[in-house]
Amino acid sequence: MKSPFLYLLGIELKKQFVKPFVTNRVNQAKSIDYFNPVHNNQFAQKKVLYLNQKNMLTIDPTKIETPDLHQYIISSVAPRPIAFVSTMGADGSINLAPYSFFNAFSSNPPLVIFSSNRKVRGNTTKDTLKNVEDTGECVINIVNYKMVHQMSLASVEYPYGVNEFEKAGLTPLPSEIVKPLRVKEAPVQMECTVREIIKLGSKGGAGNLIICQVVRIHIREAILNEKGRIDPFKADLVARMGRHYYCRANGSAIFELPQPVNILGMGVHNLPEAIRLSNILTGNNLAQLASFISLPEEEACEVVKADERVMSILAGNLQEKEKQLHQYAKELLDTGDAEKAWKVLMI
Ligand SMILES: Cc1cc2nc3c(=O)[nH]c(=O)nc-3n(C[C@H](O)[C@H](O)[C@H](O)COP(=O)(O)O)c2cc1C
Repeated sequence: MKSPFLYLLGIELKKQFVKPFVTNRVNQAKSIDYFNPVHNNQFAQKKVLYLNQKNMLTIDPTKIETPDLHQYIISSVAPRPIAFVSTMGADGSINLAPYSFFNAFSSNPPLVIFSSNRKVRGNTTKDTLKNVEDTGECVINIVNYKMVHQMSLASVEYPYGVNEFEKAGLTPLPSEIVKPLRVKEAPVQMECTVREIIKLGSKGGAGNLIICQVVRIHIREAILNEKGRIDPFKADLVARMGRHYYCRANGSAIFELPQPVNILGMGVHNLPEAIRLSNILTGNNLAQLASFISLPEEEACEVVKADERVMSILAGNLQEKEKQLHQYAKELLDTGDAEKAWKVLMI
């Protein structure tokens, strides 16, 4: 057991050395200005703990207003796919609204989930929630770039019973299994039955998870490739980010990342130190190299000595050699030639 003297000495040392450090950090807390669209479009000044040492804005969700927290969350969890949800009321009324708290969660059974949140102002619920509670059915239509303005118009809070297909100028199509209508313009339409609704809270901003079982999928032929798979370049899908930002999955925004399936890459921690601590190779570059099972054989690396650029590096200043080889390897990695990059690094 610790003697009382040592125990008291410990407390005193803590006071002397640890406390000033903590106070110092808190003293560096900064006020930040940020735009708050909910509060009459004015700049609101809020005190948020800002830890200088880490250059990170650190937020305690219990100390910030819900609309502000909402913006930080939706700008971080982004881009989010958009479910353009069509429902029908028990009275036969037609409803259509976009929901980006949405994703796919299971393929067998095929389940997708979206969340219809309680409104922050007024703490009321939305028409879509009422309809799925009453009827247990919906159609989730996927949004492409061609219909973004129509989707946005359909998000307006029209009174219950207003048909947003008409408001947004979209074409209703009968479904095969469920009553709600499909959006003809949508490249993919999923007919769903509602398996469960989970209420996440009773305050404004609380979500209601609507777990949907997909019972039919309709995919426009024009977005398929020759193998019958969805071609992302043809689908031209959009996703929602924070505030009024969206993004379009097309052109150079789409890229392929070869996945090292079934290959147990050696991992960054097993790379030779000179490579792992390189000032030139980035974290991404190291991961590309570390996806290989093992270092290349010495013999295999010999061939690269005949490479013109390698020859000129080897003939030049010895001190610059490593830097230039790393630079060359980086360029090779950035163009996807990891195998050659390895050989260059192992010379
Ligand atoms: C792109 C986009 C995504 C949205 N995502 C959500 C969401 O995930 N959850 C939510 O409650 N409201 C979301 N909204 C707001 C609803 O669409 C809006 O409140 C709508 O009026 C609800 O319609 P309803 O009452 O007919 O269901 C989103 C709006 C837009 C434009």
